[in-house]
Amino acid sequence: MKICVFPSAEQMSKAGQELILRELKEDPSLALGGATGNTPKLLYGLLAQAAESGQMDLSQRQIWFLDEYFGKDMYYKYAINFLHNKFPKGKGIAFKNIHVPNGMYYFESQIVHSEILDEVLKKNRGDYEMKGPEVLIKPGAKHPVLKQLRKDTKAYEKSLPLKRVQILGIGREGHIGFNEVGTSDKSRTHLTVLADSTVEANAEDFEDGIVTRYAITQGSGSIMKAYLPILFANGVKKTEAVHGLLIGDNPASVLRKHPNTHVFITGDTLGEFKSADLDKLRKKYEVTGL
Ligand code: GLP
Repeated sequence: MKICVFPSAEQMSKAGQELILRELKEDPSLALGGATGNTPKLLYGLLAQAAESGQMDLSQRQIWFLDEYFGKDMYYKYAINFLHNKFPKGKGIAFKNIHVPNGMYYFESQIVHSEILDEVLKKNRGDYEMKGPEVLIKPGAKHPVLKQLRKDTKAYEKSLPLKRVQILGIGREGHIGFNEVGTSDKSRTHLTVLADSTVEANAEDFEDGIVTRYAITQGSGSIMKAYLPILFANGVKKTEAVHGLLIGDNPASVLRKHPNTHVFITGDTLGEFKSADLDKLRKKYEVTGL
């Protein structure tokens, strides 16, 4: 694992842009893995600038996003906005190359939002089993929505290219994608129950008044298969999550087992770390900027 510490979010994002540009130049078939949230927005802006100045053209690249809320296409819209609309015409990722797990299901002419899903799950207990927050739909599931969900999550998992640079943020309790505390390190693309703290932290996503308590997410195991995961985090709100990632135990700490993980963080994120912990990190990993 490589840990790079930067004085500001701007510098952190710039370094991310440079690393991604280098990787894309070296391998024309390399794909991207996208993350939503506020953290990568600066990076996406810098990628758009690189396209503007002719350093990069994403029009032939593919991108696979990590997750989507159940009953919404919010992250799909985010993906289109930041990787297509904000790029100079024809230089961003083409619509057909932007992949986001499907969160929109219809049943009896209605969008299945999370309250309807609650009911479906209550009435069809034989169709799935719970493993922590993971809702694992069984091969013989009978309810059409659950059946389709299983089919879609399997297909998404299968389509993920190994040769991808996976951009990651981190939730305050250490989730990557929507792999909440209690998710197996080996999980694959699945339906998950969101933690209350996630629903709270992401409240601004539910301006339409319809809060969702479920999401579809790539699993930790799916993320671990990417050739290069780069996790970005900045600010004191992320200190605890980053501590778990680097030293403790949270869903993101699985990334310590990946030989090529890059962690890009700002100095303030490490502000509250004990000096013994920082020494441990210096001894164990390649650390720059600390
Ligand atoms: C959401 C996404 C994560 C993202 C996290 C952090 O929960 N599912 O992929 O990393 O938010 O978001 P932010 O960067 O806004 O703090």
